[in-house]
Amino acid sequence: MKKVILTAISVLALSSSFGVSLSHASEEGAYPLPNVDWSFEGPFGTYDKAALQRGLMVYRQVCSSCHAMKRVAYRNLTALGYSEDQVKAIAGEYTIIDGPNDEGEMFERPGRPSDKFKSPFANDAAATSANGGALPPDLSLITKAREGGADYVFGVLIGYASAPPEVTVLDGQYFNKHMTGNVIKMPPPLTAGAVAYEDGMPQTVEQYAKDVSTFLTWAAEPEMEQRKQMGFKVILFLIVFAALMYAVKRKIWAKVH
Ligand code: HEC
Repeated sequence: MKKVILTAISVLALSSSFGVSLSHASEEGAYPLPNVDWSFEGPFGTYDKAALQRGLMVYRQVCSSCHAMKRVAYRNLTALGYSEDQVKAIAGEYTIIDGPNDEGEMFERPGRPSDKFKSPFANDAAATSANGGALPPDLSLITKAREGGADYVFGVLIGYASAPPEVTVLDGQYFNKHMTGNVIKMPPPLTAGAVAYEDGMPQTVEQYAKDVSTFLTWAAEPEMEQRKQMGFKVILFLIVFAALMYAVKRKIWAKVH
């Protein structure tokens, strides 16, 4: 029995080290990324629904004027704790260009839950020319696409500072501790008090940055909670199965000595 317990313990130890510490592989340098204590980290991590809802507010009121999120549909927002009616209302606030109709014309209609998030620009060229020659990347998968994930997005949002003398910052650029090369063409998007929270959470740049990073992590990996739960069930099954097999083996070999 000792062996079984030992195996079980090592399997558990192995599996719990999966979720943690995949990030920060090489972000050292002058400005190490902040290491935020996210609710969704670790083998039992879950999304904080209130944070997701606040993060959606920050995205809608601030980021969505420049950044698209083409992979997320309004109906996906039920995962944030909204009812179908609330999702309908959110989608209905947007005007979507649809068509062509029977006469071959494009037409406008209110958004529906099945629509993808409305993009701020018609295409990448329009987005780039409106932003001083830099394309605001689609944020649907940004936490997966960048090393450091949520810590990186959070880092960029709070990483504005005055430039040290050795960094040249041109017109339309801003010094940022965590952007590659330390200059970014995104003007500091967050200011304290800009988004009115209804749940009494602090309306600070840091809190906004934390909430919107949580929301963007959910957008990139909406099935994270199910994946972790499934992993736990599989490990549990394997432990029970191993114990059973061990008992069977003892029984079968009991008479052979
Ligand atoms: C005024 C337009 C504008 C707003 C508002 C804005 N951004 Fe940006 N953002 C940009 C542009 C342009 C870039 C590309 C910068 C570059 O390449 O130098 C960018 C880059 C970024 C990056 C870095 C991507 C990378 O390449 O690593 C992140 C992350 C980001 N934005 C997140 C956000 C979030 C989150 C918000 C809302 C809180 C937001 N942005 C609001 C214009 C904007």
